[in-house]
Amino acid sequence: MQTPNRKLDHLRITLIEDVEAGNTWLEYVRMIHRAVPELNAEKVDTEVKIFGKKLKAPIIVTGMTGGNEHAAKINAIIAEVVEELGLGMGVGSQRAAIEHPELAWTFRIARERAPNALIIANLGAPQIVKGYGIEEIKKAIEMVDADAIAIHLNTAQEAFQPEGDVDFEGLIDKLSKLIDKVDKPIIIKETGAGLDYDSVKMLREIGVKAFDVSGSGGTSWVKVEMYRAREKGQEVLATVAKWLESWGIPTAASVIETRAAAPDALVIGSGGIRTGLDALKVLALGADLAGIALPALRAAYRGKEELEKYLKAMMLAIRAGLFLTASKNVKEVRGKAIIFGPLKEWAVERGVYEEWLKARRPF
Ligand SMILES: Cc1cc2nc3c(=O)[nH]c(=O)nc-3n(C[C@H](O)[C@H](O)[C@H](O)COP(=O)(O)O)c2cc1C
Repeated sequence: MQTPNRKLDHLRITLIEDVEAGNTWLEYVRMIHRAVPELNAEKVDTEVKIFGKKLKAPIIVTGMTGGNEHAAKINAIIAEVVEELGLGMGVGSQRAAIEHPELAWTFRIARERAPNALIIANLGAPQIVKGYGIEEIKKAIEMVDADAIAIHLNTAQEAFQPEGDVDFEGLIDKLSKLIDKVDKPIIIKETGAGLDYDSVKMLREIGVKAFDVSGSGGTSWVKVEMYRAREKGQEVLATVAKWLESWGIPTAASVIETRAAAPDALVIGSGGIRTGLDALKVLALGADLAGIALPALRAAYRGKEELEKYLKAMMLAIRAGLFLTASKNVKEVRGKAIIFGPLKEWAVERGVYEEWLKARRPF
């Protein structure tokens, strides 16, 4: 059973090693403080409605795990906490359970512990290329009674995985044939290397309406695979992975590119979101939600209370940030930040700056 073993390696490595790339470029974003907000902080509305579910704050824990007993425990803890706090979560790739249905419980436990929360199913783009179709997508959705399904792109990971799936040819054609047949929203999600303008444009054109940028700066799958390659004695792969460990589009730039390419889409700003300020910054850049993976995994591993404390602090920071920028609700925080330095140069040089300025305006 190769998939479940690989997943265990991933959990172990991400829990104990330094796996972060550290270049979100959110340091080139500054929130604009409003000294006279003309607002009562208690009246600030942090709720958002996503895929028909109300979230108490624009925060989700993005998909990470499932497929083994340890992963099930983590999924259960994350689910209990998001249910209690009124947030949302994704499960990790459900490929293991599609191939080994006896593992479905390790994902389903999320819905059992979070009967009302927003839950996002998950499958990989390489599986769609290889022939997963409507049947597998439906199975994944039904398995967790999901409100949406994320299809993840992970070229940077597969390229450095000793047993990686590196065939991504024909994905757009296959996806375009599936989109209308799936009765839940499809989110196209990166996994730490960031969505770029051209990919988002192509995907928007075939009807994708939701994107999780998962930019570079947080968990680096190239780095994770570097540790695995080292353990397996694959020195050449490990060296190449080391050279490219910070590969990808920094999260701040990826939110800008994605929002510019898809002004009307749902955008999740993720990849290296660690603090409430990081979350506020991606919202100000134009994301609708902030997504967190690694810190939630590590907190959940330490126990339910740790995760609760962490996510409560995130929620409080968002409330404070809305108040301090004179934003009555989450939409109003859009545009209440300036960008400078390399981030601005990136946006200008990529030719997306003007489009982004227009697109990020509050609705
Ligand atoms: C242990 C672990 C497992 C992950 N597995 C998946 C997965 O199965 N599917 C997926 O779409 N993303 C997966 N991700 C990626 C995260 O959802 C997220 O996009 C990425 O880690 C960047 O966010 P972060 O910097 O907050 O960790 C995983 C991340 C971690 C840490």
